[in-house]
Amino acid sequence: MDKIQEFISEEILRQEIQRVANEISRDYRNEDVVLICVLKGAILFLSDLMKRIDSTTVTIDFIGLSSYEGGTKSTGVVKLTSDLSQPIEGKHVIIVEDIVDSGLTLQFLTENLKLRNPLSIAICSLLVKPSNLKVPLKINYKCFEIPDKFVVGYGMDYDERLRNLPYVGIMEPGKKS
Ligand code: IMP
Ligand code: MG
Repeated sequence: MDKIQEFISEEILRQEIQRVANEISRDYRNEDVVLICVLKGAILFLSDLMKRIDSTTVTIDFIGLSSYEGGTKSTGVVKLTSDLSQPIEGKHVIIVEDIVDSGLTLQFLTENLKLRNPLSIAICSLLVKPSNLKVPLKINYKCFEIPDKFVVGYGMDYDERLRNLPYVGIMEPGKKS
């Protein structure tokens, strides 16, 4: 077993997600908005966020991207592994992401989505590691800034495992519990 330390508890996650959901509800009052969940890591964040957005007509869609191949560092090459189910032309879009590290994944995604002529694109990330950002990226909504540690749980994986932890933990690969 890998050793996992609880880093952000379920209660603190709930509070910060509520705060960001309030900001989105305020900013998109009376507007239709599509939440685009970046698979697979953002699924728990999407589901907790969307149920707390109360003032807009919200729809959801999913996009699959991959830049890690089983390790703890991005390969830097981003691949589209599955596409949206609907066009986003003329729509307000919010990308819902688990974590921004180098920023390369979201830079790739925003460039890709711009070509589809949405009305606007915003980024909402549960976590941001500001010390690792390699590209300029405007993150419109964020719940937490964290140090440069590899995190797991609450949707995020190490080699596809540990997504089911209800909290965000810090993992030290190879350490036995
Ligand atoms: P970026 O392209 O370097 O910004 O990496 C973004 C993607 O890498 C995120 O969507 C995550 O899927 C993954 N990632 C980055 N840091 C972590 C981490 O600490 N734990 C788990 N996945 C991570
Ligand atoms: Mg992700």
